[in-house]
Amino acid sequence: GSAGSDGGDGSGGGDGSITMGFSQVGAESGWRTANTKSVQESAKAAGITLKFSDAQQKQENQIKAIRSFVQQRVDVIAFSPVVESGWDTVLKEAKNAKIPVILTDRAVDSKDTTLYKTFLGSDFIEEGKKAGQWLVEEYKDVTETVNIVELQGTTGSAPANDRKAGFAEVIGAEPKFKIIASQTGDFTRAKGKEVMEAFLKSNPDIDVLYAHNDDMGLGAIEAIEGAGKTPGQDIKIITVDAVKDGMQALADGKINFIVECSPLLGPQLMDLAKKVVKGEQVPARVVTEETTFTQEQAKQVLSTRQY
Ligand code: AHR
Repeated sequence: GSAGSDGGDGSGGGDGSITMGFSQVGAESGWRTANTKSVQESAKAAGITLKFSDAQQKQENQIKAIRSFVQQRVDVIAFSPVVESGWDTVLKEAKNAKIPVILTDRAVDSKDTTLYKTFLGSDFIEEGKKAGQWLVEEYKDVTETVNIVELQGTTGSAPANDRKAGFAEVIGAEPKFKIIASQTGDFTRAKGKEVMEAFLKSNPDIDVLYAHNDDMGLGAIEAIEGAGKTPGQDIKIITVDAVKDGMQALADGKINFIVECSPLLGPQLMDLAKKVVKGEQVPARVVTEETTFTQEQAKQVLSTRQY
């Protein structure tokens, strides 16, 4: 049950009695797989019973899952919203049922912030800015136009919106940077490859690819090699995430720079869940700590990466 206990040391209703309903976006990327594993392992370690639901990148599936968690009267609901908008109704249902909600990884754009207790995840705008800052520095001595193509994440998702905005803000200060094509690749390798193939056909002169995640960048590398060009040299590549395959490509010189986005949200999520179930105050926003990697840095840390 969700009744809070006062003065207890362990979880809300005694050790092991918390049930969490977790609605995951899907399994679209290496990042997502690592995130799912982190959530599942951390729940186990924290003695929290996890009801896990995979939405296959569809908002309607997430809404169904959340409604079903409400019906089952779980103690806490956590979810990673596939897109930012359209959550108010279902979140009100959870609130009316007095089930606390934690946003993990991605934000919602609801005006009413009492619909959730906290939001744990990365600062995606900052990630986009870091990608832009590397580019500005890398091309500081270049005066000609720099033609950029962009592979966006899932349309309407917080990371796609914010990584686009942060990047555009930084490079927008210098008119030589031109985004000549920008399209969604749905955060998947297959779509990244497909869209990059189309970009290459219609644009003979691409200098830089900015991909909103490693997987799309890795798909694009196949497209670039297929077109007889050398990724990392003929076309410079910046991606976000720093999953193992991405870091390998960075160490191999096929990617030029990766902005880290950590999927290891599980331990913090379980701590926050225990607190909100007990009715304790939690910060409204918990930002994930992360760094960036050059090719040299990737070579140094590759063997110790967990995911
Ligand atoms: O929300 C985080 C993003 O979702 C990751 O950067 C991407 O790889 C994943 O699919």
